[in-house]
Formats: sequence, C-alpha cells, structure tokens
Amino acid sequence: MTVQGSSAVVLRAHRGHLSQPPSSLLEVVTLPPREPAAGQVRVRNLFQQVVAANGDLMFETTRIPVPVFRTGEPIHGGAIGRVVESRADDLPVGTVVLHMSGWREESVLGPGEAFPVPDGVFPGPEYLLNQGVPAYHGIVDVAAVGEGDVVLVSGAAGGVGSMAAQIAKARGAAYVIGIAGGPEKARYLVDELGLDAAVDHHGDDLDDRLTELAPDGITVFFDTIGGHQFEAALRHTAFGARFALCGVLAGQVAGGDGAHPRLDIMAALAHEVQIRPFTTRHTPDQVQAWNTHYAQWYAEGRIRFAHTLLEGPLQRAVTAQNELLAGLHRGNVIVRLAG
Ligand SMILES: NC(=O)c1ccc[n+]([C@@H]2O[C@H](COP(=O)([O-])OP(=O)(O)OC[C@H]3O[C@@H](n4cnc5c(N)ncnc54)[C@H](OP(=O)(O)O)[C@@H]3O)[C@@H](O)[C@H]2O)c1
Repeated sequence: MTVQGSSAVVLRAHRGHLSQPPSSLLEVVTLPPREPAAGQVRVRNLFQQVVAANGDLMFETTRIPVPVFRTGEPIHGGAIGRVVESRADDLPVGTVVLHMSGWREESVLGPGEAFPVPDGVFPGPEYLLNQGVPAYHGIVDVAAVGEGDVVLVSGAAGGVGSMAAQIAKARGAAYVIGIAGGPEKARYLVDELGLDAAVDHHGDDLDDRLTELAPDGITVFFDTIGGHQFEAALRHTAFGARFALCGVLAGQVAGGDGAHPRLDIMAALAHEVQIRPFTTRHTPDQVQAWNTHYAQWYAEGRIRFAHTLLEGPLQRAVTAQNELLAGLHRGNVIVRLAG
C-alpha cells in the first residue's frame, strides 16, 4: 500500500503570555507518510476534540500534569479515527477507535494507544469525545454529591461543567444551579440539560441570584472558573459545604486573575467549608466508572452529550481553539474531519 503524506497541526512557538491567542501559534503542515510497524495501526481521523487546557499546554512549562506540546511537532489530544491499515491482530481495518494522538489527519498508534468504540451505545462515536471523567471524579469522588445536595456548577455550559451539572442531577441532588455566560446559554442549561436554574454571569448579579436561588446556601460547588465566581460561591455556602475545584478558566484567558481569588477565611471557618482542588489522572478505574455510568444514564435519558459539532478540515480545529476560550460555543467542542 502506498501511503500519502497527511496534514497535522504543529506548534510553531511556545506561548509566552495569555494574551497570545492559541491559534496564532498553531500551523497545519503536511507530514511525510508513516507506515505502521508490527503491532501498530494507521488510523484516518474522523473527529477532533478541542479543550480549554490545550492553551496551557502551549506554554514551555505548565503545572497541568500532562506533557506539554513541543515546538515543531504535532500537538496531541483526543480524537476518533477509523483503522485504514493494520499490523495489529486485535484492531482490524475498519475498527473505529478513540485515542489521544489527534490533531492530524492520520495517526499511527501502537499497543495500548487505541480503544475500540463500542457499537450502538451512542448515536455516533464522537459521543466518546467528552470530558466526563474529571466531571464524574469531581462530583462523585471529591464532592460526594448525593440526595438533598444543593449544587452550584460554574462553567456549566462548557465541556467539563455541562457533564458535572448533569451528573449531579443523576446522583439525585435536590437542586442544581449552573453559571454560564449569556441568556441563551442560561436557557440552554435549564431547557435542554434539565438543570433547576441558571445564572448568567454576564447579565445577572451573582449575589442577588444566589440569594434568590439558594436561600439556605449551596452544599456543593463544582468550580471550573475561579476568580469572582469562587468568591461569590463562598458567600453563599451552607454549613459543611464541599468545594471541588476543577479548573480556573478565569485565570487561563487573557486579562484573567481568576487563579488568585480572595479566600474569605472567616467565611470558610464559620461554615467549615471543605475546599478540595483535584486533578483527574484518568486511571483505568476512573475511566471505567465514568463510561459505565455514562452509557447507563444516556440510555435512561438522564444525561445528554452537550456539544458543538463544527465541520473540518483540520484548520477549523485550530480556529475553534480560540473560539472555545472566547465562549463562542457550548458543551464539548468537536470538529468533524472526515465522513
Ligand atoms: N481538574 C482536572 O482534572 C481537569 C480535567 C479537565 C479539565 N480541567 C479544567 O476544567 C476547566 C474546563 O475545561 P473545558 O475544556 O471544559 O473548558 P470549557 O468550560 O468548555 O471552556 C470554555 C468556556 O469557558 C468559559 N470562560 C472562558 N473565559 C471565562 C472567564 N474569564 N470567566 C468565566 N468563564 C469563562 C466560557 O463559558 P461561558 O460563555 O459560559 O462564560 C467558555 O464557553 C478548565 O479550567 C480545564 O483546564 C480540569
């Protein structure tokens, strides 16, 4: 079989500061053809996942425990592809797989790098390009959400947050409030994702709305934003509230100081708030726990895959990286690369 060269997204230079838009440092180039070695498969990619953390992985160093992108090399990330050439007995040609070597038209994958997508569980294989693992870990293992909880989720129309809010509902929380930017996203949270209420952080006064929606205080806060949303949540806690800190988007975008919110220690003391930042390592147990519940809750109609599907080519994923951080899309952002 003669293999042609194929495109990939390469990091031209490291990001120096947050005001540099991620897309300005990414370039689509043609790579020489690669034949799979024994035990490997060549995959034609169908869908590319775009996540906020990519912007951080473009710095030379990061505190996120994931390998940073290297200059002059293709970047990496979640993708779905179809095996087009196989030298691995367990992955015949035609198998659709999930893998982490995306951001290229074609990927060559070795043992343990490609996970077959089960047939018939979801409407399409792209439904596996979700960020449910950290959402489930934070809501279930860190915050132990259960019946009776009043849960506040920031970034609730985003990739992780949309899953976290729905998982809280599926776990039997009494009331789930999502924070999102703009009235359309706020409506989406209630009308489409089934949350009990939403706060629009662009148009609403956070304190007024939280006083109205949670008069006895929130018992759980799942935070992907930090900054003044974290500070507001702390002003509206019930005694013994659990804070699961997942991300600091307000500190990951230009001009943001969200990574350094003021901690009102007296409020935290008085309410004995348990503040637990967490990093999800995607261990096999964590991945399996999420996938099992995702399939079950999806089949029962208790969870939806909030996502925005954009049409390729690969360059579209590059521009989508800026758009995601600017809040132009909702849910998990996915680019279709091939039919
Ligand atoms: N702890 C872990 O293990 C773990 C794992 C995965 C991801 N994360 C973190 O989780 C967070 C969410 O990741 P994601 O990929 O799902 O991103 P995302 O929520 O889809 O990010 C995009 C959204 O962020 C919001 N946003 C952007 N700038 C903002 C600002 N200054 N203030 C408030 N909101 C802002 C916008 O929502 P609105 O338009 O609604 O404002 C935008 O739509 C990130 O911090 C990521 O690094 C953590």
